[in-house]
Amino acid sequence: MNTPKRYTITAALPYTNGPIHIGHLAGVYVPGDIYARFLRATGNDVAYICGSDEHGVAIPMRAKKEGVSPQDIIDKYHAIIKDSFQDFGISFDNYSRTSAPIHHDTASDFFKKLYEDGEFIEEVTAQLYDEEANQYLADRFVIGTCPKCGNEESYGDQCEKCGTSHNATDLINPKSAITGNVPTLKETKHWFLPLDKHEAFLKEWILEGHKNDWKPNVLGQVKSWIDDGLRPRAVTRDLDWGIPVPVEGADGKVLYVWFDAPIGYISATKEWAAREGKNWEDYWKSEDTQLVHFIGKDNIVFHCIIFPAMLKAHGEYILPENVPANEFLNLEGNKLSTSKNWAVWLHEYLQDFPNQQDVLRYTLTANAPESKDNDFTWKDFQAKNNNELVAVFGNFINRIVVLSNKYYKGVIPTPNEFTELDEDVLAQLKEFPHSIAKSIQRYRFREASQEMMNLARLGNKYLADEEPWKVIKTDEARVQTIMYVASQIAAGLAVLSEPFLPFTSTKLKNMLALDPSLTWNDVADKSVLLAAGHQINKSELLFSKIEDNAIQAQLDKLEATKKANEAANKQVEPQKDTIEFDDFTKMDLRVGTIIEAEKVAKTKKLLKLTVDVGIDTRTIVSGIAESFKPEDIIGQQVTVLCNLAPRKLRGVESQGMILMTDTPEGKLAFMEPKGKVINGSIVS
Ligand code: MF3
Ligand code: ZN
Repeated sequence: MNTPKRYTITAALPYTNGPIHIGHLAGVYVPGDIYARFLRATGNDVAYICGSDEHGVAIPMRAKKEGVSPQDIIDKYHAIIKDSFQDFGISFDNYSRTSAPIHHDTASDFFKKLYEDGEFIEEVTAQLYDEEANQYLADRFVIGTCPKCGNEESYGDQCEKCGTSHNATDLINPKSAITGNVPTLKETKHWFLPLDKHEAFLKEWILEGHKNDWKPNVLGQVKSWIDDGLRPRAVTRDLDWGIPVPVEGADGKVLYVWFDAPIGYISATKEWAAREGKNWEDYWKSEDTQLVHFIGKDNIVFHCIIFPAMLKAHGEYILPENVPANEFLNLEGNKLSTSKNWAVWLHEYLQDFPNQQDVLRYTLTANAPESKDNDFTWKDFQAKNNNELVAVFGNFINRIVVLSNKYYKGVIPTPNEFTELDEDVLAQLKEFPHSIAKSIQRYRFREASQEMMNLARLGNKYLADEEPWKVIKTDEARVQTIMYVASQIAAGLAVLSEPFLPFTSTKLKNMLALDPSLTWNDVADKSVLLAAGHQINKSELLFSKIEDNAIQAQLDKLEATKKANEAANKQVEPQKDTIEFDDFTKMDLRVGTIIEAEKVAKTKKLLKLTVDVGIDTRTIVSGIAESFKPEDIIGQQVTVLCNLAPRKLRGVESQGMILMTDTPEGKLAFMEPKGKVINGSIVS
């Protein structure tokens, strides 16, 4: 195995304008966590760093919408995000936030250094301006057509469709996101980072230096930007939310969020180092340190071009060793979306599936969007749990622990002569630390997770082939050997599963009473992981079957979201032609009460209702059977158009019509008075 090194591993700082969902987890935090845990397990010095990105423009926008302050928004989501990461077992060494004073200082100092070194271009240029809102428009405040791909809903700084990063003034047909107005141009001073100046270096460093070890999707994007030619990028904004630009003559200006946020990795490292009595500079300024950024593909330009250019311009920092960006995860065939609530939210998952963190971790890893976009489906989640975690991993461990307790009171037996198969299985076990490590070191986490599961498969198959529960009747000596060999696999699995299934690994280590000093490398090097005579504990359940109803409940939740979105997007009908007052007074509208209801035979939609409308009790046929059960609407007050000419529906004469409206969920709702009124009361 490689000699230990120092690693600074960063995971993209999430925006605090919403909670974490499975897309974030699969793309960034779970792979980062597997990597960090693996490196710690193999003896490296690791700082796994993250925190909240609290200066994003979406934050004041959301605050405005909810009628609260931006501070309220960031405090709320910072707490939700931080807690859910912790409950989920993401092993950050520090989870900080960009509103922290240490970050404001670090980002300001960084800016000042570049400013003083003459690394910026200071320029007055015409920027988009919304006269009505009295505000300059940049980033998410402006929407227009992407000059590269033609997406009509590109933001000012980045097109979410093609990933291109551009200047707001590059947009075709820009429109203010605040008022919808066409912006005017107004002059304002800003500081620009001349990316063009760093182009040759970036090209050489990435496209030559890393052409063999960075992922093709990352190299492809970098090449495309460099081929298009890099241009100066403004790193300041006319906004009132963010870190004030720390130079004279910059009143009312803040640092561009993508300037300050990546510096958050540095501030968070400082905060951690101070707490732990370490030197933060070792993690950012030493050539011996490997810096690795875990991000999603929409962040590539910022981590491969802009931040490295900033670090290079500063001069004291190391550059990333790799930026293993992932593609996107979809949910049941549709793009994940915070604003459309199309997501599986981490904090909700943790409530709905308590103590099942590892199931989601495993599903997201086994299906990680490493080289192309992938789809998360609840059926697949259920299958991965029931067919792999329960049926393979859990089953293998359960057999070992139960049988050991049954045959040997939980004491590992002394083996007798090994067969060829035993030798082969033990030799295979020793290969797993290498093969899993190799995949992880190449950022192939799905492959690594499958390899880990193959070790459980090896154990499961060994037991299935050797059938100790049968052999025990004829050859007890042989069973001792089988159980001994299988126990070694279980011990190996306890160690090697830790990066992927940390909760399970801990439980399993407890069950096996494993020596806590046993390391990843020991699994490769030691011939005995669980010695004969070692006492293990009783069996505990590692995984349990997920039933159909739990999955259906999640699918129902998504279906409700879909309906709500459809309703929200539904166009309001235009106004009908004008009528005269007389036309209106001709209608006899009054309140009645449903006193009987039954389905009209052989129809899906129709209910036959008996309604007391004050003047009489009559039969009305109404198309509401898909929204209401007959027994639920007895006693319901409704508005009835009484003098509508009677007509026959499926052989039943309907004497009037019940007035209804649509709910956002796509159901029907009665027009009922607020509080009971006398039947027959006129509606006018
Ligand atoms: N908040 C950004 C996003 O969610 C990521 C910021 S990464 C950092 O896309 F480098 F800026 F911190
Ligand atoms: Zn585009």
